Amino acid sequence: MSDTHTPGAEISANILRWYDASARSLPWRVSPQDRAKGVKPNPYHVWLSEIMLQQTTIPHATRYFLDFVKRWPTVDDLASAPRDDIMNAWAGLGYYSRARNLYACAQEISEQGGFPETSAGLIKLPGIGPYTSGAIAAIAFDEQVAAVDGNVERVTTRLLAMDAPLPDIKKDIKAIVESWVPEDRPGDFAQAMMDLGATVCTPRSPDCLICPLSEPCRARALGRQTDFPVKPPKKTKPVRHGAVLLAIVGDGLVAERRADKGLLAGTLGLPTTAWNDVPSEPAIASDDRYLGRVEHVFTHFRLYLDVYMSEAADALDLIAEGEEELIPLSELSTAGLPSVFRKALNLYQSPRGT
Ligand code: ADE
Repeated sequence: MSDTHTPGAEISANILRWYDASARSLPWRVSPQDRAKGVKPNPYHVWLSEIMLQQTTIPHATRYFLDFVKRWPTVDDLASAPRDDIMNAWAGLGYYSRARNLYACAQEISEQGGFPETSAGLIKLPGIGPYTSGAIAAIAFDEQVAAVDGNVERVTTRLLAMDAPLPDIKKDIKAIVESWVPEDRPGDFAQAMMDLGATVCTPRSPDCLICPLSEPCRARALGRQTDFPVKPPKKTKPVRHGAVLLAIVGDGLVAERRADKGLLAGTLGLPTTAWNDVPSEPAIASDDRYLGRVEHVFTHFRLYLDVYMSEAADALDLIAEGEEELIPLSELSTAGLPSVFRKALNLYQSPRGT
């Protein structure tokens, strides 16, 4: 860690001045000007956006955010909705444990009669970790706490030219950022750091000429901006293989609600073989048509799925057996299939154009 700290007061003053002029306009955000007039953010909006933004871009999350708040205007509405509706509406955002936690969290908040207003209270809820509890507490409730995500880590490691690998210095970064959080505008400070990381201090081409922190930035002084944060040596992801069946029965596609535990738990899926380390011959009937292979990258492995299609009437037996359901072909685009299955479906070109 660098020992040349710029005083936190100067950092926060500079970044807040920049934020006043350059804050992004986001549907869950209260602008710094409105905030100064006393307008308070809606904690439900802040919470929902933070959960959606975990590992997703703002443009992608925004569509879902607007859809959710239209359908479920309050956390109580979300808590009392059928869980499958929420799982389906989440489809495409990935990381389905988040949707399950979102629902569980909404129910706890609703039972408690509202959001806890401190990071210590928030972190006890499902799906809320150290970053999210800090972000919600600072943005929605003005608690003087840090919210350190990947953007903030990048800004901070560059500012101080911290040259240890990132995982080892997470705690140090958090303590440093915590020391910079101003008493009067913790929420704006958190959002300013995030915006700066997302729009100016970007991973590959930081725009130091317009950066409000360029003067004290040690990485810039060294001409080594993109050397930080230092990453640990990269591990390659393991690969798995499987096959998936697009079984068309009449005007419907056979789908199944996936089990409550494991990957993609609780989502709607397509019938698939187990996903193994080595390719194996799928148990697919000889008249099934091979459509091609899709690739999908999950957090812990890369998956190659061979896609087969069947229009055999005996797929009907499948339906009779249990968890399967039929999605009408006309409703495929809104059925809430996770991206991995949607990719498989994209190989299917129906004569009817579905
Ligand atoms: N990324 C995650 N949360 C954010 C927020 N509240 N503002 C901007 N970017 C974000």
